[in-house]
Amino acid sequence: MPKKSRATGARRVSRCRVCGSKDLTLFLDLGETPLANSFLTNPDEREEWFPLQLFFCNRCALVQLSRVVDPDTLFRNYAYRSSSSGTVVAHLLELARFVHANLLGSSKDLVVEIGSNDGTFLKALKEMGVKILGVEPAKNMAHIANAQGVETLPTFFGSKEAQRIRDLKGGVKVMVANNVFAHIDDLHDFMRGVVTLLDDGGILSVEVPYLGDLNQNVEYDTVYHEHLSYFTVHPIVKLFDEFGMKLLKVVKLELHGGSIRLLAEKTTKQRPRPSFLAFEEKCGLTKLRTYESLAERVEYQKESLRRILEDARSGGEKIVGYGAPAKGNTLLNFCGIGTETLAYLIDTTPEKIGRFTPGTHIPVVETERFRKEQPPFALMLAWNYEKEIVMKEREYTGQFIVPIPSPRVLPKNA
Ligand code: TMP
Ligand code: ZN
Repeated sequence: MPKKSRATGARRVSRCRVCGSKDLTLFLDLGETPLANSFLTNPDEREEWFPLQLFFCNRCALVQLSRVVDPDTLFRNYAYRSSSSGTVVAHLLELARFVHANLLGSSKDLVVEIGSNDGTFLKALKEMGVKILGVEPAKNMAHIANAQGVETLPTFFGSKEAQRIRDLKGGVKVMVANNVFAHIDDLHDFMRGVVTLLDDGGILSVEVPYLGDLNQNVEYDTVYHEHLSYFTVHPIVKLFDEFGMKLLKVVKLELHGGSIRLLAEKTTKQRPRPSFLAFEEKCGLTKLRTYESLAERVEYQKESLRRILEDARSGGEKIVGYGAPAKGNTLLNFCGIGTETLAYLIDTTPEKIGRFTPGTHIPVVETERFRKEQPPFALMLAWNYEKEIVMKEREYTGQFIVPIPSPRVLPKNA
């Protein structure tokens, strides 16, 4: 493994980011890793390593990281693109259709997306004739969006930015925040921004990876420094309550290994609470012991994957990685899988090709190489797109190793 240099640039968390309690218990220690999206241009580069530890809040049940890395370092130049996975594009198109058909009243209604990435979702809405605005701190992604005609402010969102947008554009009917809640340190300022910008009766649609799925499927690889919080509905409702946002609906989604969409309304009227809260209590998602048991299952899963890879390697067979997602880097670093095991990873994202994985320094190459070489084994690091990948690679003559929920080798294509 390459040399480590110890991190200095991360703030230690002492209070729960939702309820402010200091009563936090460490239940999962994934060791130290570099930042999961910091692909290297040179394999000899030295990187900063940061502790990756999960804590449970004994008061509001929020699961959260122990360190906050400077958001400018994490998000100003971003390697992840919404449009690089067909599944995500299809999901965003469906959401655009849903918003258009159900949440908008007139053609004057404005939709603002926070964390709008390369503009995939807003572009679809714009093509339906909807007024849109994106807010995206990754300058490279905001640039791509603007170049496609999706107006995007290259900035972080908070109460000040919300006021600025309101002064510029007026109130907003619908706000969308997909896969951003987990990235935000100051959730209170974010929510202050939401209620500043939304009109009365306006709707906030939030999507987050669901901790219930992380727990059930042992998706520990979705833990990395960008994801400060791991949500059930419980702490989100607590946060919404503080800002007068009424939770209307929770929708379970398959995306990203299992996510939820929460729809909340800015209103002073009473709304019936969705039954999801009782479901979470029944599943033990508000109890520390559930997460202590998860930590044991994580260790078991790591050993099981290492054994499968060891068997494949001992036969002298070439193994590569399919996909170079951020979560793959947590998995590789935590399981100690490097260039001794994986010859290369393939990925469709232009920003990742020609680079090296953080921590393990495995080269990332174009998918074409995998198709040409037909390596006997491919570790599917982008396991959340298993269906899409198996379908796309139906000509593949080797075997996929899928690491999550329990490591397994898929049969060869017939
Ligand atoms: P995500 O799980 O965070 O969306 O990242 C998935 C990564 O996998 C992303 O870098 C794109 C890559 N990928 C491929 O290279 N080929 C594929 O067929 C799919 C679905 C994803
Ligand atoms: Zn808390």
